[in-house]
Amino acid sequence: MCGVALLFFSLLVLSDAITTRKIGVNYGRLGNNLPSAYQSIEILRSMRAGSVKLYDANPEILRLLARTNIHVSIMVTNDEIISIAANQTTANKWVEDNVLRYYPDTMIRTILVGNEVLSSSSDAAKQIWNHLVPAMRRIKISLRAQDIRNIKNPINISLNFALLQSNIKYTDPGTGLVYTNLLDQMLDSVVFAMTKLGYPDVRLSIAETGWPNAGDFRGSWC
Ligand SMILES: *[C@@H]1O[C@H](CO)[C@@H](O)[C@H](O)[C@H]1NC(C)=O
Ligand SMILES: *[C@@H]1O[C@H](CO)[C@@H](O)[C@H](O)[C@H]1NC(C)=O
Repeated sequence: MCGVALLFFSLLVLSDAITTRKIGVNYGRLGNNLPSAYQSIEILRSMRAGSVKLYDANPEILRLLARTNIHVSIMVTNDEIISIAANQTTANKWVEDNVLRYYPDTMIRTILVGNEVLSSSSDAAKQIWNHLVPAMRRIKISLRAQDIRNIKNPINISLNFALLQSNIKYTDPGTGLVYTNLLDQMLDSVVFAMTKLGYPDVRLSIAETGWPNAGDFRGSWC
């Protein structure tokens, strides 16, 4: 199965509950020579990371994160989505096994459903498309959780504009809004599209931004 092969990504968590910006880390485990789970958590602690995103709900990692004061995002993996979408009992069991077993000692704060499902056009991903929202609903029924989507950027833009460090000002021809960075532009485009589809009130979280420090050199999945 395809998946993100990133070791550490920077993660910006926006939440009502978080008033100061804290560094977050995406903790992917596709790769070799990875530090052990224990060592990885120690690295997170030494960095004073405020949050970590997992690409699954790994039991060892979730146990090690208990009482660390690190906010945790866990993920329903792509191959779990269809069965969860189909059956509330399955969704309930997922929440029992992957959330309630560790919560509240482990500060699970976000449940992500799927990884790059919408941004991939592989056949495997397409089969999941129609099950994504039903799976989110079922998980939400099992537990009030936040729904998140990854945002991809295939266009060619200045690196500094992407890194929030440029003096470039881009005026949107439609709205007249002035953008000084790519992140705001991408977020607004998602909000605009969702509003147009009749969903103006869905809270968004930024799940992934930045560049990996190691991992799959192709940068993403197939
Ligand atoms: C949902 O899953 C449970 C447990 O696997 C099973 O007993 C039940 O029949 C399923 N319900 C439906 C509607 O498929
Ligand atoms: C992106 O833009 C740079 C600078 O204008 C250019 O050199 C490069 O070829 C472009 N890359 C692509 C994929 O278009």
